[in-house]
Amino acid sequence: MAASFLLRALLLLPALVSAITYPPVGKCTGNCSGGVHDPNVVRRDDGTYFRFTTNGRVNIATAPSISGPWTYRGAAIPEGSIIDLPGRDDIWAPDVIKSNGVYYMTYAVSAIGSLNSDIGVATSKTMEPGSWTDHGSIGVPSGSFNRIDPNLMQLSPTSTPYLTWGSFWTDIWQIEMANTPLKVLSGQKPLHLEQNTTVRPQGRPTGPIEGSYQFRWTVGGKTYYYLFFSSGGCCNVPPNLAPPGEEYKIMVCRSESPTGPFVGKLGHSCLTENGGTIVLQSHNDLLAAGGQGVMYDPGVGSVVVYYHYIKPSVGYAYKDFHFGWNKLDFSSGWPVVVA
Ligand SMILES: *[C@@H]1O[C@H](CO)[C@@H](O)[C@H](O)[C@H]1NC(C)=O
Ligand SMILES: *[C@@H]1O[C@H](CO)[C@@H](O)[C@H](O)[C@H]1NC(C)=O
Repeated sequence: MAASFLLRALLLLPALVSAITYPPVGKCTGNCSGGVHDPNVVRRDDGTYFRFTTNGRVNIATAPSISGPWTYRGAAIPEGSIIDLPGRDDIWAPDVIKSNGVYYMTYAVSAIGSLNSDIGVATSKTMEPGSWTDHGSIGVPSGSFNRIDPNLMQLSPTSTPYLTWGSFWTDIWQIEMANTPLKVLSGQKPLHLEQNTTVRPQGRPTGPIEGSYQFRWTVGGKTYYYLFFSSGGCCNVPPNLAPPGEEYKIMVCRSESPTGPFVGKLGHSCLTENGGTIVLQSHNDLLAAGGQGVMYDPGVGSVVVYYHYIKPSVGYAYKDFHFGWNKLDFSSGWPVVVA
């Protein structure tokens, strides 16, 4: 009896060990759902957290901590983008950094399925609704990619700002910006950082990749540049859900230089060998996490990853998307979601 129980337990063990376990999603109160897409969170020096999200003319919500309570505050670009393309009133993927006392918000003007897109920038001294000045296109040259999902990284006022974007088509790209990051540095060519090299039926991406986010962190005296991105189908609804594992998930690649080459945890190239390593994928009542950003949060006392996700128990609709976050531990050199 006992022996057969033990045998069965041992036979079950591999299945149990390989099951994906994650700590619960971090607490969120206030405006945590109602269609939160591609969140970007910035903590102002006075301790107010600003959250910018896709759709409309860039939704702003504020809170005293990453877990809320979040209050919806209005639009960042109430007149719509001055970029004269379809989608200028339905702005995507806002991304805010502070440089030399000014907040720079890069954003995308596009439409579903369109490659006729552009990346713009707006500035503010406070991030409050009503304080943003739109400057329009930053001048990313056109190419085989789609100009969406921008992310700026500038590590000090004098250092080179790098913009990554992309792309769904041909995935993640990067370019150097001028020191005041309103324009691409003249003469710069886009650099291909990461792509899914899985064979693509009908020339379409099988595992489309988009929503990159650059983050520098020092681990055991060694500094790495981490390239987070979202891979898979972002927004499928029944009966057309992506097959398990093919829905949106958060992945990461790493390099010793901001411009690459990037590799995954097993050392595979992220440009030619599908190197990306999974950080957070669907489990329990969390589906299709993505549109992420990463920050050190002094409130939590840890690096956190924040993202949008679907709760199948609530619904799959675009308007139901939720805001989530978790702590990240980098002690192994690779980010791991921890309680
Ligand atoms: C919550 O935020 C969304 C945008 O992210 C907005 O459309 C919605 O009106 C907000 N809901 C409330 C109750 O403020
Ligand atoms: C590439 O796409 C395939 C097929 O959708 C998917 O299984 C795989 O996880 C993707 N790889 C990366 C690095 O996104």
